[in-house]
Amino acid sequence: MKIAILGGTGNEGFGLGFRWAAAGHEIVIGSRKAEKGEQAAADMLEKLPSGNISGTDNLSAARQVEVVVLSVPYWAQEGTLDSVKPALDGKLLITVVAPTGEKAARVHRLESGLSAAEEAQNQLGENTRVVAAFQNIGAHHLLDLEHEMDCDVLVCGDKKDDKAVALQLCEDASLRGVNAGALQNARAVEELTAVLIAINVIHKVKSAGIRITGLGN
Ligand SMILES: NC(=O)c1ccc[n+]([C@@H]2O[C@H](COP(=O)([O-])OP(=O)(O)OC[C@H]3O[C@@H](n4cnc5c(N)ncnc54)[C@H](OP(=O)(O)O)[C@@H]3O)[C@@H](O)[C@H]2O)c1
Repeated sequence: MKIAILGGTGNEGFGLGFRWAAAGHEIVIGSRKAEKGEQAAADMLEKLPSGNISGTDNLSAARQVEVVVLSVPYWAQEGTLDSVKPALDGKLLITVVAPTGEKAARVHRLESGLSAAEEAQNQLGENTRVVAAFQNIGAHHLLDLEHEMDCDVLVCGDKKDDKAVALQLCEDASLRGVNAGALQNARAVEELTAVLIAINVIHKVKSAGIRITGLGN
């Protein structure tokens, strides 16, 4: 796949992009500034010289691909999506955004009562399909391909085919994806991120995660 990562200059988007590039996907790193995107791509290429990786501004990145990943802080979500909206028509947007409040280790409920993913879907309209995934995956070990990520990815969305794409990207990042139902369920998944941050702090670890039991595999 050819995948654009909006905000792929940050730890989470960069780490996921690195894993997908290592799995053979073409990665376009997006940034508010084209030069910053280009520099991030150069950094990723240094780690993975065989990778098919480039960098540019968010809008140019979104224009080039069919699958766009949103990886910016929640407070930057609306503005970032506004800046790329014309390029998202007919495309799949996978959002990794997990809203945090002033205290990252405490659940932060959005004023809308929705998830950030649902807010993105409402903002973009039905011509763009939004899927939520990777909210509970810490960036810490993503750049270490040898590290076995001991956590599942909950994938929420309203269309099975779109979730299948996200589930494939979980597998390609060496993570187990679990279809976790409708986009509305992203509310619980996003809030769980604060719980995991609290567990990290309390237990002095860096990558607490979740595992779904009972799936029989
Ligand atoms: N880090 C983690 O361990 C982790 C784990 C799970 C989920 N997440 C979620 O993944 C998303 C990205 O996390 P991150 O740690 O990579 O975030 P980050 O480093 O704080 O930000 C990612 C990128 O977003 C852009 N950005 C930052 N502030 C912005 C603003 N005010 N307006 C527009 N763009 C802005 C920046 O890109 P440019 O300057 O290049 O435009 C930045 O490099 C977040 O929503 C987070 O909740 C993170």
